[in-house]
Amino acid sequence: DTPYLVDRFGRVATDLRVSLIDKCNLRCTYCMPAEGLPWLKRAELLTTDEMNRLIRIAVEDLGVTSVRFTGGEPLLRKDLVDIIGATAALPSRPKTSLTTNGINLGDYAEPLVQAGLDRVNVSLDTLDPEVFRKLSRRDRLDDVLAGLAAAKRMRLEPVKVNAVLMRGINDHEACDLLRYCIEHDYQLRFIEQMPLDPQHGWDRTQMITAAEILERLSREFTLTPDVAERGSAPAERWLVDGGPATVGVIASVTRPFCAACDRTRLTADGQLRSCLFSTTETDLRGPMRDGASDAELIELWQRTMWAKAAGHGMDSGEFAQPSRPMSAIGG
Ligand code: GTP
Ligand code: 5AD
Ligand code: SF4
Repeated sequence: DTPYLVDRFGRVATDLRVSLIDKCNLRCTYCMPAEGLPWLKRAELLTTDEMNRLIRIAVEDLGVTSVRFTGGEPLLRKDLVDIIGATAALPSRPKTSLTTNGINLGDYAEPLVQAGLDRVNVSLDTLDPEVFRKLSRRDRLDDVLAGLAAAKRMRLEPVKVNAVLMRGINDHEACDLLRYCIEHDYQLRFIEQMPLDPQHGWDRTQMITAAEILERLSREFTLTPDVAERGSAPAERWLVDGGPATVGVIASVTRPFCAACDRTRLTADGQLRSCLFSTTETDLRGPMRDGASDAELIELWQRTMWAKAAGHGMDSGEFAQPSRPMSAIGG
């Protein structure tokens, strides 16, 4: 019998998110300072074999059925195609997906599909080249749009687009983003900004809430709740103008979805996190490099998940932002 990843609240983690690298080729102001961050050193990163081993254990021994690769920017990891190939070829055939800024997707979409990748989510906060340049400190909007188009062409579907709205920066673009995504058949989701930035600049009173996003969209579109089963998906969805197009909102702050959480996370340096907002991690790299058996790693993983908190506790007064920033957790 499979020793599943269960917690004290009866949740079962079947969705693994693997951060492959903490580096990125953009410098979005809400995520990183202009000079970047103190990156993990090469020796700290898991090797290809170490990554593949932990993913195999999760999928073949611990009941994980889908694996999402994140970063930083995962396309900067040279062995990404190999890792995805090894994951997709596992006997249990997990679903595989990638969360990327889209910049190198034009080149990688085809090899990724050949390796067995099923889907991609691409971050796109603006359609205005000038806003893009200010927000990401790089002039790469065209590369992102080309990456999206390549994903569509290679049928990495549904192609989802993630957008974080920020007051006075891109919040006037909500409707333009939705129109663009509907036109190109991308599924747009707006994300409430979470307190995960290294600058600790997050301010709840400045955050664009789900309610505000819906109010803005309602000025130009008719939204009706999508009755399709949500399951553990972070996004709540609405039909746009009667459908079939939809728009999603990931309201981690004002409408948390922790009770249905099915996630477990692995960082690029081999640390397990039971929650995006965990303040503790479990080191798997050390034990692995000291010769731990699969059985020992399985037990560490199960124990970590058993200790998972009920939720992120953002409203509890005791909430502390994790010391690792978003870019080193992978979202
Ligand atoms: P789908 O399977 O396509 O729905 O993927 P996803 O939305 O779970 O993944 P993606 O990497 O695209 O993440 C979109 C946003 O949701 C990011 O801001 C993530 O940080 C956030 N997110 C993903 N998983 C969780 C989670 O378990 N908890 C919270 N609070 N936010 C999450
Ligand atoms: N809060 C919410 N979403 C964030 N992202 C990056 N930082 C944050 C944050 N603090 C988004 C990225 C990307 C997705 C993986 O997470 O824009 O679309
Ligand atoms: Fe799961 Fe933590 Fe995200 Fe809540 S905040 S949905 S518990 S990972």
